[in-house]
Amino acid sequence: MVQFSKDKKTIFSGAQPTGNLHIGNYLGALRNWALLQNDYNCIYCVVDMHAITVRQVPAELRKRSLETLARYMACGIDPEKVIFFIQSHVPEHAQLSWVLNCSTMFGELSRMTQFKDKTARHADNVNAGLFTYPVLMAADILLYNADLVPVGDDQKQHLELARDVAGRFNAAYSPTFTLPEPYILKTSSRIMSLTDPTKKMSKSDTNTQSWVSLLDTRDDIIKKFKRAVTDSGSEIRADAERPGITNLINIYSSFSGKSVEETEKEFEGKGYGDFKAAVGEVCADALGKIRENFDSFMNDRAQLDRIITEGAQAAEAIARKTISKVYRKIGFYSPEAKK
Ligand code: TYM
Repeated sequence: MVQFSKDKKTIFSGAQPTGNLHIGNYLGALRNWALLQNDYNCIYCVVDMHAITVRQVPAELRKRSLETLARYMACGIDPEKVIFFIQSHVPEHAQLSWVLNCSTMFGELSRMTQFKDKTARHADNVNAGLFTYPVLMAADILLYNADLVPVGDDQKQHLELARDVAGRFNAAYSPTFTLPEPYILKTSSRIMSLTDPTKKMSKSDTNTQSWVSLLDTRDDIIKKFKRAVTDSGSEIRADAERPGITNLINIYSSFSGKSVEETEKEFEGKGYGDFKAAVGEVCADALGKIRENFDSFMNDRAQLDRIITEGAQAAEAIARKTISKVYRKIGFYSPEAKK
């Protein structure tokens, strides 16, 4: 069982088991999860309860939940160091979510940009879960009193809401929750679509040319970058007016570990063709290892089942303490509580 240190801060993050994870998820979140695992107490979750805010095929969701865990591990996240679990295995997430619903304002949720986007995309299924989704996300984080939450830029607004709700609860009932800070890296926090660089790379995009899956083959990766939409001009220089080339520079810098300036210098005088080939190569090298690791983890189902079972037990031990404290503070009666 994972042993947490009292001297380290806590990190919580999660990803939905919907579709294939792509390089946006990897560079914006998963890679940082792996980098932080030695210095923090880390809890990483497969958020299947969030996934059902959009209609899912049940057999697919089941399969993808385990695959998502194997992808986390393939990205270098070590189950000996972090707590890994599936959200629906720890019922305290739903319990705290209800309590926090009663400290969250309708107006706050109405302002969430992801809710507005998803409402437009799923007009036939604008369910209440889609609306209260950020409250469940706040519950995920606050249950573990996470200090830091490594996410991409698209989750920033949800995180701000989690802080506001935590602050409101603390003010009403006495200090209970830690206010979480976002951990967002500049160059990789918003990887854009390869076919329309004004839009975020997204696993729900039906055009598979727009995103690179962590499991794409080397050939596919190189082809996708070759065809990536760039702007008019020929210089390899990051500039807000040129989102296509800026996105490719960010991807190259993130995979190579070089700064944007170093990348611009390296490709001075070179054309888009050479640069796109180099981005494809550096990305394919990094993902090749992830694909191999993924296959070997998926071949050992017993090990994955053991990891999530132990992970859920470890997560629940922490979550249960928080929920007992919250229930006592809000005035829920318990026969076991001291008189
Ligand atoms: P999800 O599953 O959409 O994405 C998982 C992580 O990947 C990041 N991400 C990106 N980063 C950079 N560029 C992109 N194009 C890109 N697309 C996605 C996301 O920001 C995220 O960090 N609501 C969350 C899951 C969640 C969660 C939580 C996260 C539920 N509870 C508690 C943190 C803490 C989501 O839907 O992520």
